Amino acid sequence: MLLVALFSVFISVTIISCNKAGDSAKTATAKDSTSKPAQSPAERGKYIVNAIAGCGDCHTPWKMGPMGPEQDMSKMLSGSPEGMVMKAPKLDMPWMGAISATFTSFATPLGIAYSMNLTPDSATGLGKWDETTFMLALRNGKHIGTGRPLLPPMPWPVFKNMTDDDLKAIYAYLRTIPAVHNQVPEAVINPMPGPPQAGGGEMKKK
Ligand code: HEC
Repeated sequence: MLLVALFSVFISVTIISCNKAGDSAKTATAKDSTSKPAQSPAERGKYIVNAIAGCGDCHTPWKMGPMGPEQDMSKMLSGSPEGMVMKAPKLDMPWMGAISATFTSFATPLGIAYSMNLTPDSATGLGKWDETTFMLALRNGKHIGTGRPLLPPMPWPVFKNMTDDDLKAIYAYLRTIPAVHNQVPEAVINPMPGPPQAGGGEMKKK
């Protein structure tokens, strides 16, 4: 008896949820067929930056909030904090790198990378960059489009596959966010590490 009751509850729940799914499918179709204004490039850029590419993970400094670490949105996409110059720590193999508490500076054998200020501030951010320079930087993985190779972990080898329209949309969105004056420290570029030497680059036996 109990089983039957449970079973019928199960069936009715299933039916209700099916109806719900059906309803929302209908609403979705209805929404799509209405003449919704086309998404502007800046709106699409906002979606890519915040919902897909996670630029803020490395370009917005993190702080400790009541629920744990969170991005400091008063400094949204303004890059590694000014004056926070880091020294690479000494690490034992197999440790290779270290990350600052703000999650904006990264020490690796290749050097120390500070994430860039992506806000439209003209002195310290992307303000003076034109669209072409921005696209070249993300496509070529080169500083200001044509300079030194960018250090990890900037994921340009993935971002370079974005379409021109997507890169342009990101650029358009980044022009609309609040300008934050923040002079990111200069990157430190180490000489290319050579092939592993005997004794070095290996885990030592205890
Ligand atoms: C995993 C961390 C990470 C993510 C995610 C990330 N970046 Fe970066 N980005 C960096 C770091 C670190 C640098 C500094 C690299 C250097 O100086 O060599 C950088 C540098 C840059 C630069 C400066 C290039 C230059 O000329 O110096 C631009 C522009 C940039 N990022 C845009 C973006 C955009 C747009 C996104 C999202 C679509 C993004 N980044 C996502 C870490 C990241």
